[in-house]
Parts: sequence; C-alpha cells; structure tokens
Amino acid sequence: MWQYSAIMRFLALTLALTPFAAVALWQNSFDDHVKKLQEAQSLSLTLTTSVIGGTTEDVRVTLSKPNLVRIDSSGQLITTNGKQIWVYDKAGKTYEESPIDAGSPASVWLLDNAWVYTAFFNDKIGDQIASATKGSSRKLRNVAVTDWNITRKDKAVLQVQMDDQLGIVRGFRTTKDKAEVFVFAKEIKIGDAPIAEGEFAFVAPAGVNKKSSPAAGAALTFADIKPILDANCIGCHSGGGAKKGVVLSSYQEVAKHVTPGDPDNSRMIRPVKRGQMPPGRPLPADTVAKLEAWVKGGAKP
Ligand code: HEC
Repeated sequence: MWQYSAIMRFLALTLALTPFAAVALWQNSFDDHVKKLQEAQSLSLTLTTSVIGGTTEDVRVTLSKPNLVRIDSSGQLITTNGKQIWVYDKAGKTYEESPIDAGSPASVWLLDNAWVYTAFFNDKIGDQIASATKGSSRKLRNVAVTDWNITRKDKAVLQVQMDDQLGIVRGFRTTKDKAEVFVFAKEIKIGDAPIAEGEFAFVAPAGVNKKSSPAAGAALTFADIKPILDANCIGCHSGGGAKKGVVLSSYQEVAKHVTPGDPDNSRMIRPVKRGQMPPGRPLPADTVAKLEAWVKGGAKP
C-alpha cells in the first residue's frame, strides 16, 4: 500500500463544476485541516491501519517541509530526503535506492493511501474536492470526531473523521490490495520547526544489502550481450590471435572470464569499466551497465 510506485491518480483530475453550496459546506472543516497542516513544519503520525475483518498494524509516518517523508511499517521502510528514495524490505534484508528528479512530487505521491495528509505538502488539495457532506459527531476510540463524506473530482468517495478539537483528520477509509482498510491516527504530533534532512537519509543496518536492478539483470541472457561483444570486442578477441588469449566469441569462452553475480571480480568486466577496452574507444555507460547487469544477474547462457 505504501509502494512508491503508487499511482498519482489524484493528480490527474477531471475538471468538474463544483456546486457552490458544497464548497460552503466543507469550507469550515477540510479547509481548517489544510490550513493546520500547511502551517505545520513537521508532522508525526502513528496510523493504526486495520484491514476490515483482518490484521491491524501501526505505521509511523513522519513528514517535514519541504519534501521529506518517512513511512515505517512492520515489513517496509520507505524514506526520502528529497534527492533519493530508499525502499527497505525488512524481512528480505535488502534495500533499493533510486534518485528523484528535481521537482518530483514524490512527497505527495508517497502518501497515495493517506491522501488527506498530502495537505501537508499541497495547499491546493481543496481544489480536488467536488463536495463534502457533514455526518454525525461521536466518540471514536475515545476521540471526539465528526464524520464527513468527501467526494473528490476524480469521483473517489471518502469517509473521513475530523478530530473536533485538533481540526485535523483522524480517521479515513482506504483500500490496500483491494481490501477495505480503516486508518486511524492514534497519535498526531505537529512540529513548528522542520526536521533535519539527515533524519530522512537511509543508513543500512548491518547485514542489509543493496539490491541493484535485480529484475533487469536476472532477465538478461547471453543473447542480450552477444551483439555488444560482436560489435566491440571480437575483432581482437577471437580465434587463434585473440589478444591475451581472451576469446569472446562464444558463451563457453566468455564464461571463463566472468564470475557470475560479481562483476567487479570478473576479468571481462574490469577493463571495460575502467574504459580500457576496447582500446581508445570506451563503451557508453549504458552498454557497460548492461554487461555488468548480465554478470550480476548470474551470467546466464
Ligand atoms: C582493437 C583491439 C581490441 C578490442 C576491440 C578489444 N580489445 Fe580487449 N585487448 C586488446 C589488447 C591489445 C589486449 C591486451 C592488453 C595488454 O596487453 O594489457 C586486450 C586485453 C583484454 C583483456 C585482458 C585483460 C587482462 O586482464 O589481462 C580483456 C578481459 C579484454 N581485452 C576485454 C575486451 C572486451 C570485453 C572488449 C570489448 C568490449 C575488448 N577487449 C575489445 C585489444 C582489444
């Protein structure tokens, strides 16, 4: 549910005419929520997420202006310092690191399943609402709340529970893997100073390894690599006159010069990476990366 590849569906809005009466209705509620979150410099939430009829778990969400997000759940930690994003798979003891393009709204789309809290980063969130109707007031887990039914312009309908005292959303329904989930913020902490960027950088715990494009590397076979060797290497590395006896014209020969899974310890890769092979004509970075990925993925035939 907290996948960083989550769809930015709420960013792609259909233009709809907002009935004036509806605007007036939610102005005193959701606007207040947006204003409070806009004024906050940091926000720490402990969200209890309950799959209806299923499991419950606490997810810790920490947000800081201008674009810092950390989402910590039992299985996964996702964190971004605005430049890089890390996804740490706790059970698998691996993590992935990817750069973020400047100007990317990562901080917003990371919160795909907690849309109401994107108001912390996005002061225009109110523009995404078509209408809202007030329901009853009641106690929810010992907190005085008022129900609101919000219809967004993308047609999504949300039930949210507004904390009467804080003026911030406490509870809402969402979906995770097609299951209905109820989310309740059991702890809401607002900070008036931003949290240091360093707090959002991922430091791998001992024994945790970085995954480098495993899917791409694992899928590559010698057939993907052969055209690169044919075009750039075999002129000097085939037949009896092969330089240094290194023959690169068949899988059986190439396999003698690679250590599957370990490009840095592969004789064929090292001079290519250093830009020494082919002599005087270094390969483009993406071609080198492809050779490396093939070895990394097991140097499959
Ligand atoms: C224009 C000729 C030429 C081309 C093209 C060429 N090489 Fe070489 N290669 C050589 C020569 C010459 C040597 C021996 C260099 C030396 O004496 O250190 C060599 C040596 C090597 C070695 C052995 C290095 C060692 O550890 O002893 C490897 C591995 C290698 N080449 C890989 C490649 C790969 C991979 C390509 C294509 C991407 C390539 N070469 C393209 C000329 C070539």
